[in-house]
Amino acid sequence: MKKIAVLTSGGDAPGMNACIRAVVRGAIYYETEIYGVYQGYQGLIEGDIQKMHSGSVSNILQHGGTMLKSARSMEFKTKEGRQKAYNNLMELGIKGLVAIGGDGTFTGANIFHEDFGFPVIGVPGTIDNDIYGTDKTIGFDTAVNTTLDAIDKIRDTADSHGRIFFIEVMGRDSGYIAIQSAIGGGAEGVILPEKDTTALDIVHSLKDGMRREKSFSVVVVAERDIPGYAVELAKEVREVITNKDIRVTILGHIQRGGSPTSTDRTLASRLGLGAIEGLIDGHKNSMVGIVNDKVIYTSLHDAITKNKPLNPDLIRAMKILSM
Ligand code: F6P
Repeated sequence: MKKIAVLTSGGDAPGMNACIRAVVRGAIYYETEIYGVYQGYQGLIEGDIQKMHSGSVSNILQHGGTMLKSARSMEFKTKEGRQKAYNNLMELGIKGLVAIGGDGTFTGANIFHEDFGFPVIGVPGTIDNDIYGTDKTIGFDTAVNTTLDAIDKIRDTADSHGRIFFIEVMGRDSGYIAIQSAIGGGAEGVILPEKDTTALDIVHSLKDGMRREKSFSVVVVAERDIPGYAVELAKEVREVITNKDIRVTILGHIQRGGSPTSTDRTLASRLGLGAIEGLIDGHKNSMVGIVNDKVIYTSLHDAITKNKPLNPDLIRAMKILSM
């Protein structure tokens, strides 16, 4: 395979730059020309593609965001859009594509492969950690560290004022960020999309804590489809717990930025190199992941359709330790 292209798509994640660097340098190591596609699938359709060199990726590893930019392309969902993208790749003689992103990115990659038989390899880059076929996704560790920094700070002020705080974290329909933030942040409670915890359940456990003379509490809330779920929850709890100040902090996109942690830099570097080696070895429709510290390949179909459930041991630990 003499020419490969790389793009980032969907929500950015810290470590994507480290991954792009690994893809570019890995390709060069294997004497393969490497092209960067700007603005994700939209850039593929518009032909926003440039040849990259080793120097193109100098001094980017430590930065959050993605130097290739990212976009959510509606046009790529159409056959016409994908045809344009395919024509652009053909024109440049590109024979393989590395797509760094989450499940939306892989759904696009999978359809693209089904349409044209074009070899594609996915790299899991999303703070949500909700992808089957890899223990961790690029950006997750950094995002959790960001939430922990915020939770530590909020605990200071919550303690001073004896307040209850609801802290909303990202993750879309997955509770990975929430459960690890709650355990690492020593939270009194956690609300996960995977569990049917009601406002009343939270009231009970907050009251339990108050009976044990807890002067302040932190509850981590995983966002739902629309950010702001923590506001609604706090409103319901306020109606029952009237003797405490209850405040809400929505951490939002702060979780998507910042310099990647050591874990994310190493993960992104290994996965980027694994993507190039996978394409060269003949993987045509796979995602590269790391499971039990080994680089493995999973079909894009499995990566998209199979669930990666929360580890029940984390939920158990949270329950016991949050007393
Ligand atoms: O998938 C990553 C993610 O950050 C989710 O956690 C969040 O729900 C979503 O993207 C936010 O998307 P956007 O940046 O389009 O608002």
